Amino acid sequence: MQFDLTEDQQMVQKTARDFATQEVLPKAAEIDREHRHPKELVARLAELGFLGIAVPEQWGGAGMDHVSYVLAMEEISRACASTGVIMSVNNSLVCDPILRFGTDAQKARWLTPLASGKLLGCFALSEPEAGSDAAAQRTTATPDGDHWVISGTKNWITNGPVADVCVLFTMNDRAAGHKGITAFILPMDAKGVRCGTPDDKLGIRGSKSSQIFLDDVRLPADALLGEVGGGFKIAMSTLDGGRIGIAAQALGIARACLDDAVGYATQRKTFGKPIIQHQAIGFKLADMATEVDAARLLTLRAAWLKDRKQPYGKEAAMAKLFAADTANRAAREAIQVFGGNGYVTEFPVERHFRDAKITEIYEGTSEIQRLVIANYLSKGQ
Ligand code: CAA
Repeated sequence: MQFDLTEDQQMVQKTARDFATQEVLPKAAEIDREHRHPKELVARLAELGFLGIAVPEQWGGAGMDHVSYVLAMEEISRACASTGVIMSVNNSLVCDPILRFGTDAQKARWLTPLASGKLLGCFALSEPEAGSDAAAQRTTATPDGDHWVISGTKNWITNGPVADVCVLFTMNDRAAGHKGITAFILPMDAKGVRCGTPDDKLGIRGSKSSQIFLDDVRLPADALLGEVGGGFKIAMSTLDGGRIGIAAQALGIARACLDDAVGYATQRKTFGKPIIQHQAIGFKLADMATEVDAARLLTLRAAWLKDRKQPYGKEAAMAKLFAADTANRAAREAIQVFGGNGYVTEFPVERHFRDAKITEIYEGTSEIQRLVIANYLSKGQ
């Protein structure tokens, strides 16, 4: 077993850490307070090649691997979880399915500008009545000559209000169940597309999400991604990769909690000594550090398997489940370490606490991750 990072991976990690520390972290509290989309940071992510990390250079990407993607995601999310998810959606949920299922013409038209950061993407699967039950799609796609006409409503679409392009899932044959689901590449400026008011969220407030209303949107045949009826498998296999990205985001949040709590516990004194020297606090930090390492190992293993083109769906679900759990536990304990200072906005841990919660919900709730893992177990895998 080899735990060393390659020189290229170390370089990505250092670049991401320097950028996150110098440019992202100083703005994180303000981005959260103002509910602001960090446009200038997204532009810098593009310059650094972080919006299409695992996309080949031929298609505008950085030509790196998924281990590098996890390393960069941890660093960016450690500084600002909102910036982390903007990056994760573009990489995992938009570039990845177009790379795997798009035609060369679609890659030239959409993937190249998305991976190089000239355009930003979103992924529209969820609907008011189709969250965990992703196959219950109601958005209709009806053939009309050499076009498709699409109508429906999508919910909680991360990046929706700021996206140029959308990987969209629709139902074209309800009787066929999940085999009636079809994916499209939708330009967000197409006639009939409208975003709702951005969601007013508990956390990741710099990440804009909203409903997307589709009202008789006409798309040409070449907007079809993959095959008619092949959309559910595109969505599920895309989410396998997406879950690695969210695991890395959760890991970044957990590390922020650990770093901040250790820093505080080393300075803050009670009963004549730094609180880290009281076992009640030191043991909390020891547990946090152990769980952060375990979450990192699980997440890197899933990315490593994806890089080797080996099955990784179960491992991605395990990584997301455990990293999300870790982030939430770490945030709760970090607030406890900070005491009264943990409960006020002057210190960062209350933001980590609010940001951590979403990692147990999007890209499959923790309950869905357990379902996915149990399904693999029931098949003896
Ligand atoms: N890869 C490829 N194919 C897959 C697959 C995968 N990972 N998982 C399932 N499939 C296939 C199955 O093989 C099956 O195909 P066949 O009929 O040909 O055998 C088909 O899909 C149906 O599989 P299931 O019967 O298991 O499907 P299901 O309807 O029971 O759903 C589920 C399974 C795991 C619960 C799924 O609905 C799911 O993952 N739900 C959660 C949805 C989710 O994660 N949403 C996130 C929204 S995006 C988001 O959150 C983005 C953001 O904001 C950042």
